[in-house]
Amino acid sequence: MQINGQPYRTIWEDPAQPGGVFIIDQRQLPHEFKTERLEKLEDFEAAISEMHVRGAPLIGAAAAYGLYVALLQVPVGHSWPDWAATAGERLKKTRPTAVNLAYAIDRALSALSASASIEQAQEVAHRIAVAVTEESVSHCKAIGDFGLPLIEALSAEKKGAPVQILTHCNAGWMACIDYGTATAPIYAAHDAGIPVHVWVDETRPRNQGARITAFELAEHGVPHTVITDNAGGHLMQHRRVDMVIVGSDRTSRTGDVANKIGTYLKALAAHDNGVPFYVALPSSTFDFTITDGIGQIPIEERSGDEVRYIQGLHQGEVKSVLLTPPQSPAVNFAFDVTPARLVTALITERGICEASEEGVLQLFPEYR
Ligand code: MRU
Repeated sequence: MQINGQPYRTIWEDPAQPGGVFIIDQRQLPHEFKTERLEKLEDFEAAISEMHVRGAPLIGAAAAYGLYVALLQVPVGHSWPDWAATAGERLKKTRPTAVNLAYAIDRALSALSASASIEQAQEVAHRIAVAVTEESVSHCKAIGDFGLPLIEALSAEKKGAPVQILTHCNAGWMACIDYGTATAPIYAAHDAGIPVHVWVDETRPRNQGARITAFELAEHGVPHTVITDNAGGHLMQHRRVDMVIVGSDRTSRTGDVANKIGTYLKALAAHDNGVPFYVALPSSTFDFTITDGIGQIPIEERSGDEVRYIQGLHQGEVKSVLLTPPQSPAVNFAFDVTPARLVTALITERGICEASEEGVLQLFPEYR
């Protein structure tokens, strides 16, 4: 996708500077656009846990590159297999909910376990990082292709009036490498000339919707309006939302969906108002080992200060200001789980399926 007319991905290598990657540091968006180079294991740990990079597919790719970079710098006193395991565990601990991260690390560790030398292990780790990154791009593109007819059908029903789509958090290209998951069908529809308008939930406390989804949509020229997190139900009651599309950080084999905190309330409102609620996700976001999303998906708890302080632009500088009484504690659950019964369908790179074990396994029979 593009920023200021320049093509960008969220993570990339520069052949002139091997041994690290570049990322967009998303913390000050949309007011400041900064790129950053990551070249040590600690850089990757900080970038993921402090959310310079965020979004399930992107943190998977960043973790895979982190493991590769760690293998370029095996500390004295460690064997490379022992260091690879340690680095993998450290990277997995950075953010617990999005399974893409563990998926990328486990895939790399399993592939490099057969390596006969450190050089071979480095080559394999690099190959896996590139594969995870490129697959994210092709999977998001396919999600867009499969999701487009859903928007086309609504557009036909509305006789060309803009299709009103609500989304939560940022499941756009900034959460992935390119295209996004929830936004891929939206970009595909917009690019095909189908009129769409997106209701963008601001997504407290980190405001990924207001800051990042709105930024992406504006850069791409997609009509959109930022709304408070609590406005969705009201808009649905007044028939001003035709569909909801969100992403996911981890989805059980039975179709329970963990996504940014507040997603569950949108799904309840959509269900109550007969609005279709779609979840767009690549296969790397499924956790095929679990059957009960609410009981089994670990929910990240972040610092209460993310709730107590709010960030914005003040006199040309990005500033953080205290919102609450200084003595009031805050709790910050980063994700919630929407049960499968509230999900109309899952949009994946292999097609669209019912949010149920049978539906998921029809698309992914290798996990039966
Ligand atoms: O805390 P974040 O910003 O990493 O959370 C991101 C989300 O919840 C996204 O909706 C999810 O990762 C899907 S990304 C394509």
